[in-house]
Amino acid sequence: SVAMRQDILDLIAGLPEEIRKILEAVRDTAEEEGCSVYLVGGFVRDLLLFVPTQDLDFVVEGSGGQFATALMKRMPDGKLTQHIQFGTAQIIFPDGSHLDVASTRWEYYSFPGALPQVEESCLRDDLFRRDFTINSMAICLNAEHYGELVDYYGGKRDLQQRKIRFLHNISFIDDPTRMLRAIRFSERYQFDLDKETREALYTAIESGVLSKLSVERFTEEILLIFKEINYLGMGRALISSGLFKAWFGKEYDWNFDFEEQEDCASWSLNTRWLMALSKMDSIAICKLLERVCLNKSLRDDTMTFVRMREALKEPLTLSELDRLVNKAPKGVVMVLARDGRFSKLIEEALEASQRINMSLDGKALLEMGIKEGPGIGEILDRVRMAWLEGRICTAEEEKGIVRQWVNTLRR
Ligand code: CTP
Repeated sequence: SVAMRQDILDLIAGLPEEIRKILEAVRDTAEEEGCSVYLVGGFVRDLLLFVPTQDLDFVVEGSGGQFATALMKRMPDGKLTQHIQFGTAQIIFPDGSHLDVASTRWEYYSFPGALPQVEESCLRDDLFRRDFTINSMAICLNAEHYGELVDYYGGKRDLQQRKIRFLHNISFIDDPTRMLRAIRFSERYQFDLDKETREALYTAIESGVLSKLSVERFTEEILLIFKEINYLGMGRALISSGLFKAWFGKEYDWNFDFEEQEDCASWSLNTRWLMALSKMDSIAICKLLERVCLNKSLRDDTMTFVRMREALKEPLTLSELDRLVNKAPKGVVMVLARDGRFSKLIEEALEASQRINMSLDGKALLEMGIKEGPGIGEILDRVRMAWLEGRICTAEEEKGIVRQWVNTLRR
């Protein structure tokens, strides 16, 4: 309607200038190329919710690649990548933001969980193949219809009624990642799952649709959840829906019940991840790792966490403890320190390491006349120990103790 169009033009006018400029460039390119172009998906949803995001998705009735190539003339600092087999293209800007251009298309899912195949089709079909009504709206960007909302499936109504609703009841079978997306959007916006959608989700979980999902795609979706502000709510919903049990088996014991006062929103992704699995025993964690495909940093941190937790159960000398605690990533130490069994030990190690104020280094030792070789490292370790144990407290004492050692060696 005309009123709606004016509302959207007002929303667009309130966007940051960089984004408005891009929309105008898209409009002008569409005129040149003589094709229809739309803004679609999450950006439209979030614009109507007054929480505009960065990532722009466009669909073109025509070739996405050709359109993006023409658009590049107006984006001197962008970098174009084309994915010919999917009929899509991406332009990446120096600040890391990007825009995607797709052709209106129909994706056939040859088997559930597989990558989509592409064929030309019209906008209505393109929007119909999407996950939820709130993600199925488009805004026309052609000059004559600039700002008109295309809403075939009741997206605006569901935004107003705060509902997550699928477009067709095989949506979760077409693409099982949508099961996790449903929970993510519902908890992000505090929307309810529509009754039929909720029932279809539970049926899909029970009927084993998740087994069609690859470990890689499941991991991607899970990590998207861990990046959300309300990841705790999402985690709890994943558990109560039975989805985690279906994926990880019965023994999993994720924990998303942290105290309110804990500052979990500011934790890094790795810390959030470790906290959520910190209640599991080491065997369960190792089993869990077979059901996810983590990047190196997360995998390393998880393994360090498990190994360190096992090591802390054994009696340790102060220097062993120091080596463990001070070599580990901060996030790993923080999570272990929250475990009642280890908090005292870790506190002790951190306190002891605060006493250290080493002024000597390898070069200084060479200047003192100590021969190059492994001896240097050994002396530095011993100096560190002396600080840890409080045997030295000043730079003078540090030099003194080293001289004493050197003299004993010379004798
Ligand atoms: N989409 C879909 N099914 C999926 C993934 C995506 O139908 N499994 C469609 C939706 O229309 C979605 C759009 O592709 O809006 C873009 O997907 P994506 O960028 O993953 O999500 P956004 O909706 O933009 O959400 P977010 O805010 O999390 O980025």
